[in-house]
Amino acid sequence: MTRAVSLVVNGRPYTAETEDRTPLCDVLRHRLRLTGTHVGCEQGVCGACTVLVDGEPVRSCLMLAVQADGCRIETVEGLATEGALAPMQQALMAEHGLQCGFCTPGVLMSLAYAERARLTAEETVSEVLAGHLCRCTGYVGIRRAIERHWKTEEAAG
Ligand code: FES
Ligand code: FES
Repeated sequence: MTRAVSLVVNGRPYTAETEDRTPLCDVLRHRLRLTGTHVGCEQGVCGACTVLVDGEPVRSCLMLAVQADGCRIETVEGLATEGALAPMQQALMAEHGLQCGFCTPGVLMSLAYAERARLTAEETVSEVLAGHLCRCTGYVGIRRAIERHWKTEEAAG
């Protein structure tokens, strides 16, 4: 059975016709062409598909698109403003917090959540280590990027 779902993604309203069994990540990637959300394990383990749904981090491979009907979705495509990378993206780049980049969109969405929730740098590192598998970095660069970014934010008040 198919039905129309209405989503506000990165501030833009969308309506997509989808089957009841289709996960949110597939609608984002295949219908809306927002391919920044990556899909790895498809079983809630790797964290690559993490997006924010009404401000909360969600594994978009585990949420059906119909469950997100009427929700506000944020994906990695919404982080940069007018072509300028968000400060957390810049910090990841500066500290070599990514290599292949497969995990990076999901990591960034968890970092966006942590920043808004005003988690400390230490809590944010734990959140990322617990919630995201990265095969490349050993997490060292990601940890350095978080510390660098959080230090800058603290200095800015
Ligand atoms: S693809 Fe969703 S958690 Fe791995
Ligand atoms: S940068 Fe390759 S999986 Fe994390």
